[in-house]
Amino acid sequence: MHLHKYEKLWLIFGIGSLILFLTVLGIGAFYKGMQPPSHLATIDPQNVEAHEAFREENLGLRQLDDDKYIVSVIASAFNYDLGLDEEGSAVKNIRIPAGSTVLFQVTTVDVVHGFHLAGTNVNMMVEPGHISSLETVLKTPGVYTLVCNEYCGTGHHYMASTVEVY
Ligand code: CUA
Repeated sequence: MHLHKYEKLWLIFGIGSLILFLTVLGIGAFYKGMQPPSHLATIDPQNVEAHEAFREENLGLRQLDDDKYIVSVIASAFNYDLGLDEEGSAVKNIRIPAGSTVLFQVTTVDVVHGFHLAGTNVNMMVEPGHISSLETVLKTPGVYTLVCNEYCGTGHHYMASTVEVY
C-alpha cells in the first residue's frame, strides 16, 4: 500500500495524540487512587445495619438541632431507602425547612450508585464499603429530585426520590 507523505504524517500525529491523551487520562484517574474525596469512612456492605446511622429506625430524616438535620440513606438496586413513615410505608419524599443545614450520609449494599439532588451541590458517588457524606445548606424552597447518576442496572432510570425544601 502506498501512503502519501502527508497522510503518513497525520497518521503519526493522530496515533501520537491518542497515546498522549490516554497517558494523561490514566495518570489523572489512577495517580491518587480511584476513590472520590468524599469517601473517608468505610462500612461493611453485607451488614450496614451494624453502623448506627444505617439502622432501620435511623434511616431518612432526623432532626439534630433547631436548624440541623441528618439524612441517612441506604442505596440499593433500584431504590433509596429513606426509612418508613408512621403507616409503615417506604418514605419517598423528605421535607426539610429552607435554610437548614443538612448532612447527607449514604451507603450502598450492592453496586455503585449515584446520589444527585438535581439543582443543588449534592452530588455523590456511592460505592459499596464506603459511606459518602456531604453537608449542605438547602436555601431555596422547591421540590428537588434525587436521582441516581451512576448506571446500576435495568432499573437505573427509575431510581429516584424527592426532597422538598419548604
Ligand atoms: Cu442506582 Cu443507577
